[in-house]
Amino acid sequence: MTKHIFIIGFMGSGKSTIGPVLASKLDRPFYDLDDLIEEEQERTISEIFESQGEKHFRSLESDALVRNQPSEPCVMALGGGTFVSDVNRDYVSKHGTSVWLKIPLRLARGRCKDSQHRPLAKDPELWESLFRRRERIYQLADIQVEVEGKSPQQICSEIQSHLTEIA
Ligand code: S3P
Repeated sequence: MTKHIFIIGFMGSGKSTIGPVLASKLDRPFYDLDDLIEEEQERTISEIFESQGEKHFRSLESDALVRNQPSEPCVMALGGGTFVSDVNRDYVSKHGTSVWLKIPLRLARGRCKDSQHRPLAKDPELWESLFRRRERIYQLADIQVEVEGKSPQQICSEIQSHLTEIA
């Protein structure tokens, strides 16, 4: 398995938690696309949304995805909306394997409802409609793993089994 591994899924699905655990098991570097954007822009995602809006954030996101691919195989956690764009999805499928961390809406809501750093988590109605729309797109991932009731170690073992199956 020499391609990158892209972890995708809705806000709160655990991408930034599972990603580093998986990277360490596979002995690969880990990157978080949101962190890369914040470092490059020297602003938080919330500040970018507030000052320049979501459209601008999406263009920074696509740009950061393409510019930050390391030469060695890595594990990268994407933002919850990254895989929604056709262009980003094509890029991901060309350069790696996508792994969807599938979470039920209720659990994701519980994890994110008080989140201060997620601009799209503020409005519950928007949240729910986003969740429903995106489920159909996340299904296009190469691998999917249900996360509810499982430890990071269990989730990573499942991902590893799927990776072996499709290698
Ligand atoms: C977003 C998810 C966030 C971040 C931004 C937009 C989304 O990342 O990229 O707030 O559109 O779902 P997380 O999924 O890591 O919270």
